[in-house]
Amino acid sequence: NLTATIAGFNFEHVMLNAAGVMCQTAEELDSVLASAHTGAVVTKSATTNLRPGNPAPRYYELPNTLGTINSMGLPNEGFDYYMDYVTKKQSQKPIFFSIAGLSKQENLDMLHQLQDSEFSGLVELNLSCPNVPGKPQTAYDFEATQAILTEAFAFFKKPLGVKLPPYFDIVHFDDIANILNQFPLAFVNTINSIGNGLVIDDDTDTVVIKPKGGFGGIGGTLVKATALANVRALRLRLNPEIKIIGTGGVTSGRDVYDHILCGADLVEVGSQLAIEGVAVFERLERELADIITKKGYSSLAEFRGQLKVI
Ligand code: DHB
Repeated sequence: NLTATIAGFNFEHVMLNAAGVMCQTAEELDSVLASAHTGAVVTKSATTNLRPGNPAPRYYELPNTLGTINSMGLPNEGFDYYMDYVTKKQSQKPIFFSIAGLSKQENLDMLHQLQDSEFSGLVELNLSCPNVPGKPQTAYDFEATQAILTEAFAFFKKPLGVKLPPYFDIVHFDDIANILNQFPLAFVNTINSIGNGLVIDDDTDTVVIKPKGGFGGIGGTLVKATALANVRALRLRLNPEIKIIGTGGVTSGRDVYDHILCGADLVEVGSQLAIEGVAVFERLERELADIITKKGYSSLAEFRGQLKVI
């Protein structure tokens, strides 16, 4: 029984895509929903208007599944496209509608439209896109984070969560948790990519992606330890009503298990989904089930958050 619940929604499988991967077009979203091993889908973070994103190359895979770097620049089909998709889709699985406005007002405008629509899923407010030139990540600005959540929850009544960037300082864990705990959030999703890393090609001494002089968000194996620390630190600090989606560095069933051990209710797969395609979910779920069976558990709840310290 490897299921989870958030805000009254039941997830028959613990995994889904991470926003940005396999979720820009209806065809991609359909392929995640069609997998027998996903519990949900999250849409590519939407802006009000369609965006082509940054110039290519804008995504690169390091050798040996070490990780990825991307500076996509928020390419998306525009808010109305995803609204059309989620309101027409007959899906048994919950859908997360991700939004990433380029200003507070743009986010609030999209939230108003979602509130007034027939959309009946969950909304993920992305406060952590690192790849739009000149636009800081909201969630690194604690006052701005408090302000947008205050304004959003004044009118928004559907299940709402936030996508966070990684934090690296214990005081920052305390500070962000104190803010998030003031609001009736359904979930927090941690982590987005580690922003503004740099990868260099050995042969040519050049950066591997074009936007931002080669700076981009790091994902995959390289970020697993940071992801687990953020899931754990937030689970220890957030109100128990706020569920956690663990994202970052998942390439094996053991990685999924570790996220749950740190407190994750759902687990998202980004880089490895880009590398392996939707077949990744079948492999990861099988590997996770093997671990759970060997350890003698029969549900995720038996070990969720039960990380041992010494
Ligand atoms: C993009 C990257 C992100 O990490 C994110 O949260 C939103 C958008 C991008 O570059 O498209």
